[in-house]
Amino acid sequence: MPDTVLMCPPTFFDVREVKNPYMRHAIDPVRAQHQWENLRRALQQAGLTVEIIDPVKDLEDMVFAANQVFVGYSEKIGKFIVPSEMRYLIRQKEVPHYVEWFRKRGYQIIALDLKGECLEGHGDLLWHPDHSKIWAGYGFRSTRAAVDKFSAAMHELGFPVAPLQLVDDHCYHLDTCLCPLNHEAVLIYPGAYSADALQNVRQGWKRIHELTREEAVGFMGNGIVANRHYITPRVTPNLQNILAREGLTAVVIDTSEFEKSGGSVFCMKSLIW
Ligand code: ARG
Repeated sequence: MPDTVLMCPPTFFDVREVKNPYMRHAIDPVRAQHQWENLRRALQQAGLTVEIIDPVKDLEDMVFAANQVFVGYSEKIGKFIVPSEMRYLIRQKEVPHYVEWFRKRGYQIIALDLKGECLEGHGDLLWHPDHSKIWAGYGFRSTRAAVDKFSAAMHELGFPVAPLQLVDDHCYHLDTCLCPLNHEAVLIYPGAYSADALQNVRQGWKRIHELTREEAVGFMGNGIVANRHYITPRVTPNLQNILAREGLTAVVIDTSEFEKSGGSVFCMKSLIW
């Protein structure tokens, strides 16, 4: 199990181009820096090792370290990454920096031929916690054709991929509406999925815990599970209840500045092997 995360400091973080419905307000860079430091500390206190990639000037979304590559481990080839094809041009420029970071550390690079299609890393591609399969969101950012190409590549390594169509623009990445709590239990916002997708999700887990739309747009389904903690930007009685039933304790970390860009704690790191 990976117990290391990769983060990127918010030195050049900003809201410029509107890439999702949350991006309406200017950010406060000083507050953003504090919030990022608090998150890094919370991850360390939860027992995770935090690795850092250097931020790059003018790449204002590079702080969202979940998106640029998909990270995995396979018995066949060892540690690997699948580079993303980001929907927005400015974000495409983040990808080579991340690929280089992983290349230097010995990861195999599985480059897909994605011309004209989009695949946005762990924004849309989530490991089942026992690594038996991968859940793959598409519709707003990643495209179905890209998910199919990704699926073919993962099939060769023995990992089935379950495509899930997303239908609510406030849940434009799968990590805003699906959060595995352990290999049997998941937190979802059901309204984010097409009927088929919702049926697939329901069949794939023993226990399904539901968030309301308000909780989902408050990024409560964008948490990080680490050593029995659930790091989340806020809690409600419903979420507290769910966490208690799964033996998890909430750790609340304010991410209001990053929410103005459409992301919260899960988006701000990548779990790495
Ligand atoms: N402003 C960023 C974008 O729209 C936010 C990315 C959030 N990342 C995530 N994994 N949900 O691309």
